[in-house]
Amino acid sequence: MKAVYIGRHGGPEELKYGDLPDPVPKRGEVVVDIHAASVNGADWKVRDGSSYPQTQFPYVLGRDFSGVVSALGEGVSDFRVGEEVFAVCDVGQEGAYAEKIAIKASLVAKKPASLSHVDAAALALTGLTALVAVEDTLKLKRGETILIQGGAGGVASFAIQLAKHIGAKVITTASAANHAYVRALGPDQIIDYNAQDFTKVVSGCDAVFETVGGEVAQRSFAVLKPGGRAAFIASGPQAPKPQRGDVQSLRPNVARDRPHLERIVALVAAGAVRPPEVTLYPLAEAAAAHRISEARHLRGKLVFKVR
Ligand SMILES: NC(=O)c1ccc[n+]([C@@H]2O[C@H](COP(=O)([O-])OP(=O)(O)OC[C@H]3O[C@@H](n4cnc5c(N)ncnc54)[C@H](OP(=O)(O)O)[C@@H]3O)[C@@H](O)[C@H]2O)c1
Repeated sequence: MKAVYIGRHGGPEELKYGDLPDPVPKRGEVVVDIHAASVNGADWKVRDGSSYPQTQFPYVLGRDFSGVVSALGEGVSDFRVGEEVFAVCDVGQEGAYAEKIAIKASLVAKKPASLSHVDAAALALTGLTALVAVEDTLKLKRGETILIQGGAGGVASFAIQLAKHIGAKVITTASAANHAYVRALGPDQIIDYNAQDFTKVVSGCDAVFETVGGEVAQRSFAVLKPGGRAAFIASGPQAPKPQRGDVQSLRPNVARDRPHLERIVALVAAGAVRPPEVTLYPLAEAAAAHRISEARHLRGKLVFKVR
């Protein structure tokens, strides 16, 4: 199969497009012929070795995908060959930048015909992360106010729609060039973070969902009311320590499973969430996609159209 892999950690130029052996399913696994795989913020952190150093090469990147089941491992009875599915790889497993992948059947969900492979790949890890952060971790409730940092990004754009669906008041941040895109997602207020300091114009929030990282994360505690809670996904494996003692700082545990993927499908079917804006790349141009992702001003998602 064709795949994009690294032979060592480094810049985008280390991404090689070439041939690797086809995967063989183990017990409980399916092999999926990948049609679309998405680029996630974690991918360039894996590539450069800064966050997830690898010891075994060649190493195939990629955490989520959509495709068609092409082989069943022993003991798999919930899928048949030819079925359209999508999934997020298990924690510690990657390999979606490829024409094929072997993955535990328990992590795979059926893809409805109404959702394209490209949109399913774009929604998988972003949707899963937003659901775990907003519903499971922050436990956002109707009538609460949430600040979602980085509204134009993949995870945040799902989270804005989810929070509105829950019935919360949603404030988000984005650069001016992305305001029209973000406005269409339905937030109540958009702050141009280049023109206004969000800590000066937002206060009394019940919750913050922080997807930007760096100093934006640390400053986000200031907008919470006493007893408020904040969830962080761009500050490494630990939530940052707040400078105040009356708020909660949380790091969502984004485990991978089928039920959350089925919830994504249900929310899309109900019209509560629509897929992000997608920019397509061929797999062979992974380095160009990484340069865009790494620049941190991407709107929506980058997706590889694999076949
Ligand atoms: N399981 C997990 O824990 C998990 C899963 C998925 C992602 N993540 C992490 O979450 C982060 C976000 O990922 P993503 O894929 O959703 O987004 P992304 O594609 O990395 O997009 C980042 C977005 O942040 C915005 N942005 C940049 N600087 C900003 C600032 N100072 N204030 C407000 N917005 C700003 C950019 O929009 P503008 O051009 O408008 O600035 C851009 O749309 C990444 O660090 C990723 O690694 C973690």
